[in-house]
Amino acid sequence: MNDLAGKHIVLGLTGGIACYKAAELCRALIKEGATVQVVMTEAAAQFITPVTMQALSNRPVFDSQWDARPDNNMAHINLSREADAILIAPCSADFMAKLLHGRADDLLSLMCLARPIDTVPLLVAPAMNREMWAHPATQRNLAQLAADGASILGVGSGFQACGETGDGRMLEPQELLQDVIAFFQPKPLSGQHVLVTAGPTFEAIDPVRGITNRSSGKMGFAIARAAQEAGAQVTLVAGPVSLPTPRGVQRIDVQSAADMLAACVASAQAASVFVATAAVADWRPAQASNQKIKKDGSGQTPTLSFVENTDILATIAQSARAQSGALFCVGFAAESHDLLAHATAKRIRKGVPLLVGNIGPATFGKDDNAMLLVDANGTRELPHNNKLALARQLITEIAGRIPPVTQH
Ligand code: CTP
Repeated sequence: MNDLAGKHIVLGLTGGIACYKAAELCRALIKEGATVQVVMTEAAAQFITPVTMQALSNRPVFDSQWDARPDNNMAHINLSREADAILIAPCSADFMAKLLHGRADDLLSLMCLARPIDTVPLLVAPAMNREMWAHPATQRNLAQLAADGASILGVGSGFQACGETGDGRMLEPQELLQDVIAFFQPKPLSGQHVLVTAGPTFEAIDPVRGITNRSSGKMGFAIARAAQEAGAQVTLVAGPVSLPTPRGVQRIDVQSAADMLAACVASAQAASVFVATAAVADWRPAQASNQKIKKDGSGQTPTLSFVENTDILATIAQSARAQSGALFCVGFAAESHDLLAHATAKRIRKGVPLLVGNIGPATFGKDDNAMLLVDANGTRELPHNNKLALARQLITEIAGRIPPVTQH
């Protein structure tokens, strides 16, 4: 993907051990298509050298407001005018305090103060010891920085360089990358709450065996990510898959179709959009044995009988909230042939306004897909693409079909 193509990011480094992660972050931003201009404070240069950052960004680093290279000798103006965003990573407690007081006694703080506040967003990735992070002064500064319009990207939790464990670590480069990508995405689902199901279900036969299917969960996880990027609050009900949870998404792990139904019915109360991507097992063994079923030596095979699982999508689509228009339901159809006919019939059978058809065997486990959208007005093809790109297109389609959230 080239999600940051055409974006110019000023990456500001301040003094902290997390500077070592800034090297990786710089690389990740560039790999995603961005151009990166590094600006460092004197303290940052104690932790990582400008040589390293120049080599990774392929541009000379700026670290002094007295740098005579720019013709006008105003690096702080030039650098901030060119940027699509300024990302301070790591942002020390001291630098946050400087930012919020509007101090400008080094190039980086000077540049942040001089930035056109309406057009050049400031993203802040704090990094510090857990006591510094928890200190009321830091928390007060954070709140004020956010009130002044900065986007605070949050912190990680865990083992810290000082030997202590807690909140305050800088987020990992890949997490920051996802946050920056999300930041630049349009926000048509702002204020909405999206519920997504993903992956297969697992229907137990006994404590060690069960029936499942080959759904990888990738499409549903991509939809959850795209919905979050589009500004929605997202709940992802996931069957047994080992995919990482998209940033900022609330994940509920389930095993069986019955578990998935219960989680969805509860979460649908607060949702305004429901996207049923999961490949829910149609049937489960009528009786799951409490104990492992053993061979008895007779050569006889056990006989399994099945009962049908409740249709989660149809159940939620028939709920009062969905019927009143407060909850917009989207179904998926994984077919092997006659996609249009099956998808059209399935949309009506499930009682949903929008159904997404795809060819199951061609997409299960793959990173790409193609979609056929079917609604009451007709069909629309979303041609072959990677699943995240398709998910973003689908989210745009959904956003265009639901009423906007009224601001109070
Ligand atoms: N679905 C669901 N609960 C089920 C079965 C399916 O929520 N118990 C949802 C899927 O998540 C998907 C849609 O219904 O959004 C279509 O599922 P699919 O299994 O393809 O359709 P079926 O109704 O099973 O029809 P068929 O077996 O004829 O293909």
